[in-house]
Amino acid sequence: MPKEDLVNLALRRSLFYSAAEIYAGSPSGFWEFGPVGEKIRRKIIDLWRKELVEREGFLEIFGAQILPEAVFKASGHLASFADPIVQCKKCNATHRADQLIAEKTNGIVPESMSTEELAKLIKQHDVQCPKCKGKDFTEVRKFNMMMKVDIGATGQQPCYLRPETCQSIFLDFPRLFKTMRVQLPLGIAQSGSSFRNEIAPRNTLLRAREFGQMEIEVFFNPKKINEVPRFSEVENYKLNLQTLKDKSPRAMNCKEAVEKKIISAKLIAYYLARAQQCWHAFGIPIEKMRFRQLADDEKAFYSRESWDFEVETELGWVELIACNYRTDYDLAGHAKESKQDLKVKEEGCEEAFIPHVFELSAGIDRTLFVALSLALKTEKRGPEERTFMELPPRIAPYLVGVFPLMKKDGMLEKAQEIEEELVSYGLDVFFDEVGSIGKRYARVDEVGVPFAVTVDYDTMKDGTVTLRERDSMEQKRVKAAELPLLLWKLQNNKIKFKDI
Ligand code: GLY
Repeated sequence: MPKEDLVNLALRRSLFYSAAEIYAGSPSGFWEFGPVGEKIRRKIIDLWRKELVEREGFLEIFGAQILPEAVFKASGHLASFADPIVQCKKCNATHRADQLIAEKTNGIVPESMSTEELAKLIKQHDVQCPKCKGKDFTEVRKFNMMMKVDIGATGQQPCYLRPETCQSIFLDFPRLFKTMRVQLPLGIAQSGSSFRNEIAPRNTLLRAREFGQMEIEVFFNPKKINEVPRFSEVENYKLNLQTLKDKSPRAMNCKEAVEKKIISAKLIAYYLARAQQCWHAFGIPIEKMRFRQLADDEKAFYSRESWDFEVETELGWVELIACNYRTDYDLAGHAKESKQDLKVKEEGCEEAFIPHVFELSAGIDRTLFVALSLALKTEKRGPEERTFMELPPRIAPYLVGVFPLMKKDGMLEKAQEIEEELVSYGLDVFFDEVGSIGKRYARVDEVGVPFAVTVDYDTMKDGTVTLRERDSMEQKRVKAAELPLLLWKLQNNKIKFKDI
């Protein structure tokens, strides 16, 4: 389904839309999520929490969004978190130099390329300003993407909106390690907003200036990177791996990938597998996924080994999770800058050391955008065309729509009673009594509600209702009293609709 259709649907049903849209000139790259979009977004976070954070016994924190300059001095962001930019001398528009070149040459421009090399390529490829077609540019210079905020009445405390959520995880690690009765390996997770002053925000949620992250940092003893007690659970699980030598991904199980040194260690392969399983639960087909190994000049400055988890969409491959072996880069940096000892000791081991970290850094809004674009389907049924969103029940905005066929003869009251009963069981219900039943089905189908219950004249006689499935549009007659358990089982994949 082309991107425009999702964006049109998003605007028409207020799934997501630009922030401060009533003001002309509001900066781009900031998004709001309406009631349905926010529900799906929250469920994506909840599923990540259930499938990864809780299943792996990780700790979750909620950190501050604004942190002092010292944090980003230690993390390297102050010195290195910059994009190369140029300005058109004719129209003054500012552009990302690497993107201008990549667009002109249809190639990848490594992050590590120097400003001089970029300037040379701009000339060599006769790059034009996309806005005015001018060819005269200023020098390429580095632009730090962090957003500065001055705290205090006189702004005497320089601080930054965090460009990644994980810095609080590194800062909190020593406290949590001491107070939470935990051992290594220890995973600490956080979801929340991060902020980057992108020069060219684009593709709606895919490159925004404020964006959601779900990050997990696993702290471990580097000497034990191959001691992973649960590795047997994933050793035969296949990952789609695209190494630096491959042109396309190939499926390989975790055991083989580690034995052949394609993935450097069991701990890394284990968490790549867990990530792939979790994103599959978001409804993303395995055949559309790959882990792409990053070359040295593509990797972030803090990473020794990086795999980007990418999903194939109409817009090409989209990165959803950066998987980085950050070594002791961050804790060592914070230890030096804060002058605190951040070494730990493991039980039965005398020597103190700074733990290493493996990171799964996922984009929430990117995941939402990609999950919705892959789920959005149109289908011809006779003369009619219908749009529906094939979202898994666990991330659908509502589990079930409840509709009285008509508002008379007790059907409205009966439907309200069923709604209340389902809500009392903790199920997410959308109630609608307005318009033809066909239109009500269509409205819930296009935002991904997997089931609908209709209360009709037979309900008033025998207590049964129609239960309809979104994808097949099949209907079954079931007892209203059995709905809570039935719907819960459908939501949690304990039964299939066809087996009812
Ligand atoms: N924490 C890694 C990233 O934000 O890309």
